[in-house]
Amino acid sequence: MSFIKCGVIGHPIAHSKSPLIHNHWIKKHGLEGEYRAIDIGPDNLKRGVDRLIEEGYTGFNITVPHKQAIFDLCSEVDETAEHIGAVNTVLVRDGKLFGTNTDAYGFIENLKQNARGIDFGGKIFVLGAGGAARAVVYGLIEAGAQSVVITNRTVEKSWELCTINPNIVKYVEWDTRNAELEGSALLINTTSLGMKGKPALEIDLSALPNTAVVNDIVYAPLMTDLLTQAQSRGNKVVTGIGMLLHQARPAFEKWFGVLPNVDSELEKKVLA
Ligand SMILES: NC(=O)c1ccc[n+]([C@@H]2O[C@H](COP(=O)([O-])OP(=O)(O)OC[C@H]3O[C@@H](n4cnc5c(N)ncnc54)[C@H](OP(=O)(O)O)[C@@H]3O)[C@@H](O)[C@H]2O)c1
Repeated sequence: MSFIKCGVIGHPIAHSKSPLIHNHWIKKHGLEGEYRAIDIGPDNLKRGVDRLIEEGYTGFNITVPHKQAIFDLCSEVDETAEHIGAVNTVLVRDGKLFGTNTDAYGFIENLKQNARGIDFGGKIFVLGAGGAARAVVYGLIEAGAQSVVITNRTVEKSWELCTINPNIVKYVEWDTRNAELEGSALLINTTSLGMKGKPALEIDLSALPNTAVVNDIVYAPLMTDLLTQAQSRGNKVVTGIGMLLHQARPAFEKWFGVLPNVDSELEKKVLA
């Protein structure tokens, strides 16, 4: 196999954990290749991507602010990326870009790995309706969810998210979130609240059954206040780091032909 060039494009990009993840797997599997963080500003997307194609890149990940703009440069975008409305992974073949999105996969695999036997058939309560929430809700529906209730400060974004599947996805007002937790089997925070440097997530978990699984996709800090609060009342909790690690697996497989595993060594490296 020839040397494989891949990477992540975005702006800013220095903070990205993706090089650490993919280079860990390249080394672990004894493969010939390199994964780089490539800074491409919002006005330079086409030029930057053309350069990667010329340089023989096999593929790349796409992060903020290019996840929507990259659609126009792709020859083909799969159904998952269409539904989520964002491309985070591209495979380059014969100078053409083939786009997909692996965030929903990463989200579901994290729950499956860390809340074994999880059943997606009960009421699922989702806080937030931003970019990540779209992948989360799409992933839940693909995994068999029957009832997803979302709530978001900006109600228009909740409406938009319900269009993924109006029979399954409903919304409630942000101010009613505490009472609406009742009967939930799974609670997911997709807002940026509780993240380092962001305001706290104000929530009272009293109405949440203590059999519910609680997942925060925020992973800085790893144990958010939401998870600490949930754990102290006996709920099973799942952190957000696994979503980041698992979303990288299908991208790696596309480029290197090997589906890598998420192990504790990698998790420790990324959290260090
Ligand atoms: N684990 C992973 O792999 C992974 C992947 C993706 C994202 N994330 C994390 O998920 C979080 C959200 O990412 P994103 O891309 O979806 O961001 P985003 O598109 O900017 O959405 C932010 C969400 O947070 C809500 N929010 C922000 N400030 C708020 C406030 N003061 N009060 C109430 N709601 C507020 C927003 O509500 P409005 O609509 O009302 O503004 C929106 O629902 C980030 O912390 C990100 O790091 C983790």
